[in-house]
Amino acid sequence: MELQKFINKYAEKAFQDSGLSSYPTLLYPASKPEFGHYQINGAMGAAKALKINPRELAEKIVNNLATLKEEGIAEKIEILGAGFINISLSGKFLSQQAKEVLQNDRLGVKKQPKQIIPIDYPSANLAKEMHVGHLRASIIGDALNRVLRFLGHDAFSQDHQGDWGTQFGMLITYMVETEKVGDSQVALADLEEFYRNAKKRFEESEEFAETARSYVVQLQGGDEKVLELWRRFVKISQKHCLEVYKKLGLLVDETNIKGESTYNDDLQPTVDELVEKGIAVDSDGAKVVFIDEIKDKDGNPTPFIIQKRDGGFLYSTTDLACIRYRVRQLKADRILYVVDARQSLHFKELFATVHKAGFASDKVNLEHVAFGTMMGKDGKPFKTRDGNTVKLINLLNEAVERAAKLVRQKNSDLSEEEINRIATAVGISSIKYADLSKNRTSDYIFNWESMLSFEGNTAPYLQYAYTRIQSLLTKSDQSIENNVDDAIMATEQDEKNLLCMLLQFEDIVVSVARECMPHYLASYLYQLASSFSRFYEKYPILKEKEDVRNSRLQIARLTGRTLKQGMDLLGLAVLDKM
Ligand code: ARG
Repeated sequence: MELQKFINKYAEKAFQDSGLSSYPTLLYPASKPEFGHYQINGAMGAAKALKINPRELAEKIVNNLATLKEEGIAEKIEILGAGFINISLSGKFLSQQAKEVLQNDRLGVKKQPKQIIPIDYPSANLAKEMHVGHLRASIIGDALNRVLRFLGHDAFSQDHQGDWGTQFGMLITYMVETEKVGDSQVALADLEEFYRNAKKRFEESEEFAETARSYVVQLQGGDEKVLELWRRFVKISQKHCLEVYKKLGLLVDETNIKGESTYNDDLQPTVDELVEKGIAVDSDGAKVVFIDEIKDKDGNPTPFIIQKRDGGFLYSTTDLACIRYRVRQLKADRILYVVDARQSLHFKELFATVHKAGFASDKVNLEHVAFGTMMGKDGKPFKTRDGNTVKLINLLNEAVERAAKLVRQKNSDLSEEEINRIATAVGISSIKYADLSKNRTSDYIFNWESMLSFEGNTAPYLQYAYTRIQSLLTKSDQSIENNVDDAIMATEQDEKNLLCMLLQFEDIVVSVARECMPHYLASYLYQLASSFSRFYEKYPILKEKEDVRNSRLQIARLTGRTLKQGMDLLGLAVLDKM
């Protein structure tokens, strides 16, 4: 259930009955356990505006909150400090709700009215191999995809691969050149190196450069022979990407690929439509949209160039055509762009143009889900030791190797095969979680040691916490799955707190979907896992008398299921044993 929303209904009613319907209740989960489960902070603001005593106002609100107690939902409502209202939920209410959630295979999370939500990710460039810059897009995009699907939406990746542009002339020329010596397949096995060599040839040989330029013209002119070469290159590069997707366990495959070139035929019509509507104008021969809402440093509207003077199209043109497609063909209700924060201005200009042009109605939400840069330990953008960009596939392989070492140390009697399976699950999840557990908008420091640690807010910690619960449940000989009728009794305050936290799952998932902030869920899971483990250390479970023991086992089971569901939503691997 959406617990916070549920309690807030009562708070809103109490505000209304106290003559405060225009003031927000400001109801939040309590900041400390000693403040109960929820706190209402709105009394102070309202009192200030009305110039009355906040504590008196808080008392009035509390009187109007009496139903919460009468209905057995709250057991204590008190006023603290300047007028904070603290609500403690009753054990009976919490147990009852928890039991319902336990009996529901979606942990009580309702499906929302279905929206069509294309998510623009990972959207790497095909000229080079996928590098760490696309790691964040992949991980964050995939978590959002999973959360939105779980909530009942038709969410899917639209992989806006950079598969077009002048670089391809150079790459095709080099492909033809290496072919002559008969080893283009081999050469293309390492795209990064291929790109470097092609660039070197381009710079050192005028003839090479000439051919490259003519290929670009032929490519744009739709020459079948050159297109065929281009297609071959793109295929090979895509194969590299798909390998990475697979390794990362993304919900993306070839059916999600919609590279930039998809929109080639729509570029001129898009520009024409904007010119006809009077939104794009001629500026020194180029076609430009001037955006009034965004001013440059001199206070002039910023120019969003959509066609160059020579008739060439740009990144912006493709994105405009692409939005038309997503809105008109895909019928998108909401479009997410999981793209580096450094492209913020581009998306602001893009969305402003789209709204001006009516390519999307106001009902369609266009969101730039921006993320910061991945930094090395030195605080500079993450690079290899020799200053090159880090290939994603190498990074992922390294994660698995490092995890394998740890697993071997911890558990020496596992078979190589077991070690490998666990290491893959731990290594890849660690990389994902290190990213997902931070606020995506900030830069973050990539650190092997901290992400692979079994302590702290890490994937291995969550994975391990889950296995501990599983082994507890296995040890409790009677099959608890069948004992859904066992009452949950929340007698200890710690039990009540744990149950309340478990009941907040839906609130959290809904807020992740609304704000595209996976770290809300990550923090929640970490808190849940640590609260449970403190509980487990403090209170006996298996040695208790039957009713208490069964009740605690049910709480353990609910915690395990919630952890598993949450980890699934973040795209983390869940293990039964480690
Ligand atoms: N290929 C671009 C890059 O690597 C990202 C594309 C993002 N998506 C978009 N529709 N512009 O920077």
